[in-house]
Amino acid sequence: MAPHAHDIQIGANGVHHVEKAQKNEQYSSVLHQQVKQQPPKIASGKGNYLLSSTGASIFDASCGAAVACLGHGNERVKDAIVRQLDQVAYCYLPFFTTEPAERLAREIVDSTDGRMEKVFIVSSGTEANEAAMKIARQYFTELPEPQLTRTKFIGRKQSYHGNTLGSLSIGYHKARRAIYEPILSQNTSQVSPCYPYRDQKDGETTEQYVARLVEELELEFQKLGPETVCAFIAETMSGTSLGFVPPAPGYLKAMKEVCSRHGALFILDEVMVGMGRTGTLHAWEQEDVVPDLQTVAKGLGAGFIPIGALIVGKKVADTLFKGSGAFVHSQTYQGHPVACAAAYEVQQIIKEEKLLENTAAMGEKLGKLLKERIGDHKNVGDIRGRGLAWGIEFVEDKVSKKPFPPEKKISTLIHLAGLQAEHGISFIPGSGSADGRSGDVILISPAYNVTAEDVEMIVEKTEKVVRGILG
Ligand SMILES: Cc1ncc(COP(=O)(O)O)c(C=O)c1O
Repeated sequence: MAPHAHDIQIGANGVHHVEKAQKNEQYSSVLHQQVKQQPPKIASGKGNYLLSSTGASIFDASCGAAVACLGHGNERVKDAIVRQLDQVAYCYLPFFTTEPAERLAREIVDSTDGRMEKVFIVSSGTEANEAAMKIARQYFTELPEPQLTRTKFIGRKQSYHGNTLGSLSIGYHKARRAIYEPILSQNTSQVSPCYPYRDQKDGETTEQYVARLVEELELEFQKLGPETVCAFIAETMSGTSLGFVPPAPGYLKAMKEVCSRHGALFILDEVMVGMGRTGTLHAWEQEDVVPDLQTVAKGLGAGFIPIGALIVGKKVADTLFKGSGAFVHSQTYQGHPVACAAAYEVQQIIKEEKLLENTAAMGEKLGKLLKERIGDHKNVGDIRGRGLAWGIEFVEDKVSKKPFPPEKKISTLIHLAGLQAEHGISFIPGSGSADGRSGDVILISPAYNVTAEDVEMIVEKTEKVVRGILG
């Protein structure tokens, strides 16, 4: 039976739970997001399926949070991890280097055709974005003529860059920020995202819309004082906050031009959509733009071991090289050898099994079928995406694009209904796309190795779930 809104509590990051943990019986010592409840317990995973401890089988159409891009249980990655454990499990990267860290960093740099120069390997997307903010600031302190006034960051509304105080400050996910506002950095501000479905005006061409966003960024630079801005940061294609909205053609390139004109850095957050998710290894490859700094995480290691990375462009790398020669930042687990060995193997598999090609082809099929099957539904406002990253935005009124009231928790209901035994499919629910509070989306982001039959099944299940909740 489909769950009802009153059975659900939603946490700040949109994860929801139905199983109630009774004290004594199922009491959990884990600080779950819903502290009084326990989510369904997963016992194992194989291929594209997760199996719960009660025997329920769930098709992982979201790869968790767009992470497990090879599916679950990969023998090659497992062997690479075990081989590295037999060599050395851990050493402290500021003191030593290891072959897996060197190999992975070289692999990433080579994948950019030499357009990026150095890689700082961490354990999450959040940490990668923190490192990006810090190296951006350090860059300006180490220029031949240091620019110490540069302390500010411009992000975008309805964006998400992580959950530490720094990364939370540059993003603008209302629910995740709300209670922390008073302790967030005051050195950040946000301009509009690129969100044609809601923000491009009737009769406005793409060029005019992009020009309007460029003008807004220019005005923000002027308001702050161009000489005070370190960087502008954007998700190449927005993730959970808007629901996989590809950038309008020319948008990112034009935004970088504003940054370059004012001497600020241009940072692309590809934590969710990088490392193959959009059909090219780097999402910026499709945008005719190269970032000064780039962050990646999820698809880098496919979830076998936590890993993320800051990828540093030539301009910044050269400045540190000629300046102090040191990055004033470090973490105990940076460049963890086992994580690097796992991620390197993941990247070899993506290449050898031609998974970027599969992602592009299956992505096209997924988008086309979704539009065919539910595009006309009275509550489906928009279906957008690229590669194996598709977002469906639900509205109460298709013509006016009026969102559902947030209390209805539509995306949560769809997510929870998908998990029920009759459907057995996992989506990512998102809310706040319209104004930070209302606006319901679900994200579909299956593994890069899905087949045509998998895609057809995903669409079939999606249609049934959506019609089950919305009629
Ligand atoms: C675009 C983006 N940036 C940063 C993050 C934070 O990454 P992590 O959760 O690995 O710290 C996320 C996570 O969803 C993300 O989607």
